[in-house]
Amino acid sequence: MNLKEYMNIRLEEIDNTLENIFDKSSIELENSFIEMLKYPLNAGGKRLRPILTFLACELFNGDYKKAMMPALALELIHTYSLVHDDLPAMDNDDLRRGKPTAHIKYGEANAILIGDGLLTYAFQLLSKTDVKDSILRKLLFELSYASGINGMVMGQFIDLYYEEKDINFDMLKILHSKKTGAMIRGAVRLGAIASENINENDMENITNYGEAVGLAFQIQDDILDVISDNETLGKTVGKDEKDGKLTYVKQLGLEGAKKEAQKVIEKSIEYLKPYKESEAKNILIELANYIIERKS
Ligand code: IPE
Ligand code: IPE
Ligand code: MG
Ligand code: MG
Ligand code: MG
Repeated sequence: MNLKEYMNIRLEEIDNTLENIFDKSSIELENSFIEMLKYPLNAGGKRLRPILTFLACELFNGDYKKAMMPALALELIHTYSLVHDDLPAMDNDDLRRGKPTAHIKYGEANAILIGDGLLTYAFQLLSKTDVKDSILRKLLFELSYASGINGMVMGQFIDLYYEEKDINFDMLKILHSKKTGAMIRGAVRLGAIASENINENDMENITNYGEAVGLAFQIQDDILDVISDNETLGKTVGKDEKDGKLTYVKQLGLEGAKKEAQKVIEKSIEYLKPYKESEAKNILIELANYIIERKS
């Protein structure tokens, strides 16, 4: 299988599983909130993070099905992060995944609650992972580390703090590694842990791969904000410059940012060198290259 074939198969499974994660309530009003939760979740995201979780699990000969709940939990948190990122108090965006953002559709207070609901439900899903308790404890740590104050939330804080300010390159790297890199790093680490077959050295390699891919992912996001259009990207382009955001394009120029992303991706692939030829390894390499070739 190549990346495209692998994604098609796994995406269908992700969508089918997501379809049934929320219980129907006997109270109609509660069902209407469940529909609101599903709106951003089913809006057509690429699902790259769950795919990375499965591939990391398979790289270490794990059963990707055991990684399903961690993968979905991370995707729920990723989706919540987008709903809140788009709020008027944050990036104030009205287009996401080609559709009106959650606060445009349901109002600001409901969008905050949708985010709260997705975030907390993620941990409920994670608790259902079919692994022994010691592994579950590691998954729990990993998910909260990636998404919270050691990762995404701190990155978002730094992002907003530095709007319209100058920073040095080191700080920019930290910003990107936290707001976006941490969740992608977390995605592969969750998969590696769920394989129940991981040693320290493997964890270090897959973590390094995830960190590099995560950084390149946000560099490409910065690039697309400049070179793409709303329809292709599914979100409003040109927002970063308008909001005075610190981006790789602002820091290095368009060509400089592209070169940097290429360099980081080449490095990410090197961390997979110790592993023998396998389908998971080949697709992880293909995925790394896709990160900087993608148009949306
Ligand atoms: C967008 O992430 C936000 C960033 C972290 C840059 P994705 O580009 O993965 O968004 P979806 O899930 O495909 O919509
Ligand atoms: C946000 O980065 C990443 C998140 C943690 C949600 P951006 O603000 O650049 O993401 P987009 O461009 O709105 O998707
Ligand atoms: Mg943002
Ligand atoms: Mg944004
Ligand atoms: Mg962006």
